[in-house]
Amino acid sequence: MQVKQHFQLQALNTLNLNSTASHYVQITSTGELEEALAYAKAEQLNVLILSGGSNMLLPQQIRALVIHIHLQGIDVLDENDQHVWVKVGAGQNWHEFVLYSTAHDWFGLQNLALIPGLVGASPVQNIGAYGVEAGEFIEQVHVYDRELEQFTNLSAAECHFAYRHSIFKEQPNRYVIVAVTFKLCKHPNLKLAYGDLRQAVGEDQTAENLQKQVIAIRQSKLPDPKEFPNAGSFFQNPVISIAQYQALSQLYPNLPHYPQPNGEVKIAAGWLIDQAGWKGKRLGAVGMFARQALVLVNYEAASLDDVQLTYRAVQAAVQQKFGVTLTPEPVLFNELGLIQPHVSV
Ligand code: EPU
Repeated sequence: MQVKQHFQLQALNTLNLNSTASHYVQITSTGELEEALAYAKAEQLNVLILSGGSNMLLPQQIRALVIHIHLQGIDVLDENDQHVWVKVGAGQNWHEFVLYSTAHDWFGLQNLALIPGLVGASPVQNIGAYGVEAGEFIEQVHVYDRELEQFTNLSAAECHFAYRHSIFKEQPNRYVIVAVTFKLCKHPNLKLAYGDLRQAVGEDQTAENLQKQVIAIRQSKLPDPKEFPNAGSFFQNPVISIAQYQALSQLYPNLPHYPQPNGEVKIAAGWLIDQAGWKGKRLGAVGMFARQALVLVNYEAASLDDVQLTYRAVQAAVQQKFGVTLTPEPVLFNELGLIQPHVSV
């Protein structure tokens, strides 16, 4: 384990924010993770866990030990006629694991192809796309519990999965995810209900084709972070009461909406931002993408302050036009490496 000082994180966060960590270490085993945590304690540094960097807002200077998780491995733990249980290291690339699962005829994750980031981040915000959420296929999350100072396993129920939510958001600095066990299906049960996915998949209703169509749809709408640095959807889709939805739909009958099991209604943040005039609009170095208004792009060397100026302007515009509050998705860190709540407008 080698701790580096004054380490530049720009290439390690997909928004490409210029951010220097006072201390940085890569870990490739759970033993090294324990060593790194002991180092932070001895040096009185907070710990910032870095995964794929695709959902983070980093300040210019961070005084903390950044622990970059490089834990690898894909191991079949068990299987029967119906299911396979696969344990995957937190540092495995998410999209490559989805491709691997499809190539092995393991079904379930195809709708989640091409989501950036690593496997260890998938439970944190319960990544989801095209009618599927990762939490539906997670059996266990293997963690180091920093409060109890021991390795332990959390069942899916203990993870409190909900839309873009989990226990890892409720207790943000407590757990370090080291691996995830997925329970995947041996028989295909394709989920085609979202938007025009069924039409895109057409006659060839195989997992390979579903995966291929999801990749094509994402590539047509979402910017490649290498070309346009971004953090995926920048805001969550707001979930509002039925009464608020009914009032809004009187004024805006085309508002895309998805009724929730508890009676509330999820509405499309991208549509709200688009209608508020922010699709393809920039404020200095930062703007909302022209093909999908929900994606914030760093067009030229933006700082966290620039990002905040733009997203607060977007929040204010949507609040003023629709009376709806947009909550950012990416995790905001302070200069001591701690996770901060977003300030509401
Ligand atoms: N829309 C507009 N204008 C826009 C963007 C969207 O009118 O600029 C409308 C669309 O026409 C559609 C609705 O809004 O009627 C929803 O758009 P879309 O299907 O593109 O999905 P989304 O709700 O914007 C969510 C996830 C994405 C995920 C897609 C597909 C959230 C916050 N975002 O986006 O997740 O890929 O559905 O399932 O739930 C991510 O989290 O980083 C992410 C990309």
